[in-house]
Amino acid sequence: MSGCFACSTVRVVPDKKEEKMRMRNKYRKPTALRCNAGSRFSTSVVVLSLLGCLFLLHLYTYLHHTDRNGEESQLRWNHHPQFGELQEVEEEDIQIPPPRGKRSPRAAKRRPKRTTTLIDEFLDESSQLRHVFFPGRKKAIDPIQTAANENGPTYQIHKKGAARVDIIGVGCYSSKDLWTWKHEGIVLAAEETNETHDLHTSNVLERPKVIYNERTGKYVMWMHIDDANYTKAAVGVAMSDTPDGPFDYLGSQRPHGYESRDMTVFKDEDGMAYLIYSSEDNSELHIGPLTEDYLNVTSVMRRILVGQHREAPALFKHEGTYYMITSGCTGWAPNEALAHAAESILGPWETIGNPCIGGNKMFRLTTFFAQSTFVLPLPGFPGAFIFMADRWNPADLRDSRYVWLPMIVAGPVDQPLEYSFEFPLWSRVSIYWHRKWRLPHGWSSFK
Ligand SMILES: *[C@@H]1O[C@H](CO)[C@@H](O)[C@H](O)[C@H]1NC(C)=O
Ligand SMILES: *[C@@H]1O[C@H](CO)[C@@H](O)[C@H](O)[C@H]1NC(C)=O
Ligand SMILES: *[C@@H]1O[C@H](CO)[C@@H](O)[C@H](O)[C@H]1NC(C)=O
Repeated sequence: MSGCFACSTVRVVPDKKEEKMRMRNKYRKPTALRCNAGSRFSTSVVVLSLLGCLFLLHLYTYLHHTDRNGEESQLRWNHHPQFGELQEVEEEDIQIPPPRGKRSPRAAKRRPKRTTTLIDEFLDESSQLRHVFFPGRKKAIDPIQTAANENGPTYQIHKKGAARVDIIGVGCYSSKDLWTWKHEGIVLAAEETNETHDLHTSNVLERPKVIYNERTGKYVMWMHIDDANYTKAAVGVAMSDTPDGPFDYLGSQRPHGYESRDMTVFKDEDGMAYLIYSSEDNSELHIGPLTEDYLNVTSVMRRILVGQHREAPALFKHEGTYYMITSGCTGWAPNEALAHAAESILGPWETIGNPCIGGNKMFRLTTFFAQSTFVLPLPGFPGAFIFMADRWNPADLRDSRYVWLPMIVAGPVDQPLEYSFEFPLWSRVSIYWHRKWRLPHGWSSFK
């Protein structure tokens, strides 16, 4: 029995839009919010609707997979028991060490004892827990034998300025199994002498992303280009015939005339590609389609998540719905990730909550001490992705790490919709904390 079938029996005057939504969501689960739509009708209908919805909620609780999508995904998970392994909730119990050096009883009296939290320990360069967050190479699961970015020492221009590293270029690694990696070298090199060049070592290059253009047969790289003070706020574009370069740098611009800092590009199934960037002092994100050759933006742009101060966007798509993970804006310090979903890539985008599961509360409030950077689909396993994040080491950015965790898109969202009385079109995005995990058996990048 389909959940929506029962709901439609208590519906009185379905308007056109609702009907459309209903058809679209024929097999999706109704939520309590859906009941609000009934408030326009007579009391008895409202009661009936409420009863219907309550009944459905119960039904949903007991028969977790009555709808067809659910059935399918349930089957999928059953067919791949490794998903159960990925979805296991793994707790962390890290004891915060007592403060070093004994306080005199007098000092202890005068200053209220401040409790150190895990995030304090994370940000404290000399913390005894340093190895927990930044394990030595031998302990880290480190298939990539070299550091994340091919960069020089971290330093600050001004005392309160942002920590940065010189541009050395964009490095490339290749892998057939996501485990063993080959260093392909620098594919976009820094400019050593010309100080006015975007890629001069004194500038900033972040978040490079490469997409392949079928029409032109070129690999196109988009990246955040900035000066040491982060006042340029631009995007740069480079192009190559092969993914391992060398890439030709084509120049930078402020897309649509706006500041652009953290950014990403997303290539849709229909071949359209989009640029998404933090703008207006990182208070909102902008999204717009690229031209057919992927070398420029078009004049179309939408402001999304306005006033929400989100950055580090990572986009992906599942069963026709667009999803995005973002972080808050706290410099190099980690903060809480949020998942967002949209029916149309240009919006409206709705926030569906913190996707992090497991670890402990501080792990979940800091995105496992990391910041979103990319989401990699696992071909052959619909609904399964790798969440890729940067664990920045503000004291030594070269020593920053990657955190890769399994991400599953399935089940109902746990945060109510912000403004819509419609069915939720999206599923919960869950990133599972694991100290160690493995890809599902039978996984191959060439499926
Ligand atoms: C330095 O770079 C700028 C910007 O890319 C360029 O216009 C200029 O021609 C370059 N100068 C030299 C000497 O190559
Ligand atoms: C950064 O700002 C400082 C002071 O505000 C200024 O002196 C310096 O020229 C700026 N540097 C760049 C690369 O814009
Ligand atoms: C990119 O497109 C804008 C208009 O959308 C145009 O003004 C600009 O010259 C283009 N840039 C390049 C490099 O083609």
